[in-house]
Amino acid sequence: MSLTGKALKAGVMGWPIGHSRSPALHGWWLAQYRIDGAYVPMAVRPGDLAAALRALPILGFAGCNLTIPHKEAALAIVDRVDPVARRIGAVNTIVVDGDGALEGRNTDAYGFIANLRAAQPGWSGRRGPAVLIGAGGSARALIVALLEDGAPEIRVVNRTLERAEALAAEFGKLIRPASWTERGEALGDAALLVNTTSQGMTGEPPLELPLDRLPLAAIVNDIVYAPLETALLAAARRRGNPTVDGLGMLLHQARPGFAAWFGVEPEVTAELRAAVLA
Ligand SMILES: NC(=O)c1ccc[n+]([C@@H]2O[C@H](COP(=O)([O-])OP(=O)(O)OC[C@H]3O[C@@H](n4cnc5c(N)ncnc54)[C@H](OP(=O)(O)O)[C@@H]3O)[C@@H](O)[C@H]2O)c1
Repeated sequence: MSLTGKALKAGVMGWPIGHSRSPALHGWWLAQYRIDGAYVPMAVRPGDLAAALRALPILGFAGCNLTIPHKEAALAIVDRVDPVARRIGAVNTIVVDGDGALEGRNTDAYGFIANLRAAQPGWSGRRGPAVLIGAGGSARALIVALLEDGAPEIRVVNRTLERAEALAAEFGKLIRPASWTERGEALGDAALLVNTTSQGMTGEPPLELPLDRLPLAAIVNDIVYAPLETALLAAARRRGNPTVDGLGMLLHQARPGFAAWFGVEPEVTAELRAAVLA
């Protein structure tokens, strides 16, 4: 990598930050498109977030990504919040505008839908009921995405039923909360099943979910991407359901930020997937 004095700058703030795959991902695109630019990991303590974000325009940064634990806190710090980030209740992408103001966006909803469409061309939320397992931060982004995409019904199954009920109260009558013991029945006539819990991640037990009621045409998506094929995806593949892994969402959600900071619309390719996995 060779930079000039005019190099464009962006990065990712988190605490800790060492596990983030974003530097590898954006770094690959910077090299691929021969851009005079850098994307750096920034370990920022929670109490320092406001000062770190305010430093972005001073240091000439075009913006940054935010990861755990900063996504919600940033909402109260930035100067403008786009409507999608406001609805999700979290910011994962900051763009420094021409006037030096900080604009907060959220690209997870975009990344989720773009990944499904890339894996299953022509896919639309209108196809039928969606079932989300989990009611945490990522479930919020997926609800916003699926409502926008025309899903007729979104069943939210969560270990803690109250959290699913709170999402229904917030997002309206198309959200149907379901208890953990009902999770098998909730799959009947679904067009899409998504695991948004941490179950199935490396170091966590697999998600326990009987799939017998799930139609064979239903797409099964796990947003967990380490491992790439979770026990849920393996079981779905064995019974004949189309499956979509979680790495694609991570790659696609990065595209709008890269385009805003570096001025190139980057592509998600097999080579990029391989590089980020390596
Ligand atoms: N592919 C991507 O781009 C992408 C993007 C974002 C997140 N992710 C992944 O998505 C996962 C969730 O992230 P998040 O930010 O939504 O987390 P979160 O806000 O902490 O929510 C965690 C969810 O997991 C459930 N859960 C935790 N332990 C459980 C257990 N033992 N049994 C059943 N449910 C359990 C929680 O249920 P309770 O409410 O009952 O606690 C909650 O619904 C993580 O693995 C993350 O890496 C991937």
